[in-house]
Amino acid sequence: MTYATVAAEHDLIPPHPKEAAQLSLFDQPHTDDEVMRLFFSARHAPCVIEREFWTAKQRQAHSLHEISYRACFKPQLPAYFIDRLTQPRDVVYDPFSGRGTTAIEAALRGRIPYANDINPLSAILCRPRIEPPGLEAVIGRLAEIPFDEKREECDIDLSAFYHPVTEGEIRALRRYLIDRRESGAEDDVDRWIRMVATNRLTGHSSGFFSVYTLPPNQATTPDRQAEINQRLGQTPPYRNVAALIVKKSRQLLSRLTDRQRRTLKEVASHALFLTGRAQQTTAIPDESVALTVTSPPFLDVVQYAEDNWLRCWFNAIDVEEVAAKMSVSRSIDQWSAEMEAALVELYRITRRQGFVAFEVGEVRNGKLLLDEVIAPIGEKAGFSWLGTLINRQQFTKTSNIWGVKNNRGGTNSNRIVILRKD
Ligand SMILES: C[S@@+](CC[C@H](N)C(=O)[O-])C[C@H]1O[C@@H](n2cnc3c(N)ncnc32)[C@H](O)[C@@H]1O
Repeated sequence: MTYATVAAEHDLIPPHPKEAAQLSLFDQPHTDDEVMRLFFSARHAPCVIEREFWTAKQRQAHSLHEISYRACFKPQLPAYFIDRLTQPRDVVYDPFSGRGTTAIEAALRGRIPYANDINPLSAILCRPRIEPPGLEAVIGRLAEIPFDEKREECDIDLSAFYHPVTEGEIRALRRYLIDRRESGAEDDVDRWIRMVATNRLTGHSSGFFSVYTLPPNQATTPDRQAEINQRLGQTPPYRNVAALIVKKSRQLLSRLTDRQRRTLKEVASHALFLTGRAQQTTAIPDESVALTVTSPPFLDVVQYAEDNWLRCWFNAIDVEEVAAKMSVSRSIDQWSAEMEAALVELYRITRRQGFVAFEVGEVRNGKLLLDEVIAPIGEKAGFSWLGTLINRQQFTKTSNIWGVKNNRGGTNSNRIVILRKD
């Protein structure tokens, strides 16, 4: 069988046709799994493989992931690489962790999660789901919180989002959580409640504290919300904060088995949650990470800090301070320099024969393929570029509603650059 036939069967596209001749890897027929095993293990010229590697239907994602975040990837993406490239108790890392999709998927599979993000919200959203309390403990703690206490000064006008009584409950909860943290009394139950409340602040259904607004990961400004209210003829209805926290907690925990709880417990004490720049992670020892699965901030597309202003307010985080440290690049040169520094740091912490799966989107309507920018930068940092996997997926309703930018022609593709430290 020639390379051309196997390539056609498996949708393999070598980057340069003349390199096809060197691909001993593909000179005989293989099953899909064998091709991928060889792709990750053998020495071969880098190649680009496009197909549907994982499907959302294939395996339902765990309920613990159901927290929204701008530009998060589906759990099936890290799961694919964790299963194939690591063993239980290996360290799996994400330097641009966001809501913590990689960390949670790694922990559920008995791997030790390391997570870093410049935005402190990331650890607030991720850590509690690796140390989940029981539902009864959450209900018990909520009963102790003085939701009717008025101690918060009204620093910002939230009346366009909330019924006055709901707003009072949110402010009381915020004050309670800040006090618990500052006094050193904060525990896993408080952290869980903080995470769920942060996620319920605003959204477009009655499951959120707010009146109908943008999706929860994209808070609009109070002025803009007032306009939305006027246009839709709506006033914020009363929402019971504690009841909605219980409802969401029940949903997040619904698929967590006792066995998974034990697995999470085993890895949680070794987990690492860092808040800082991916380019400088001194807390992570040299050559300690078996696999990194990550997706960096996109080029000039998403304002991760500003979109999260209300979540930051609730958690007493200074949005401007976070925005100043973030990699928001307007030019490809700026973005490449940021990514190069991140990859140099990844090279330091990756163990020998360890991998990096670096997911990038298609920006500017697919005219700019960032994987083609990342591959040579990865090699410059010291890695071998094994190739690029392009996961083709059917267009989904969720990505449509939430305006994910990388949908074209009814498909949603992830482009993942695969690097190995030899
Ligand atoms: C595409 S999102 C990651 C989403 C993540 N894969 C998930 O599933 O939630 C990129 C993340 O990079 C973070 N970020 C931006 N610049 C950073 C930097 N220099 N160091 C670390 N994190 C950064 C943003 O706060 C954002 O959470």
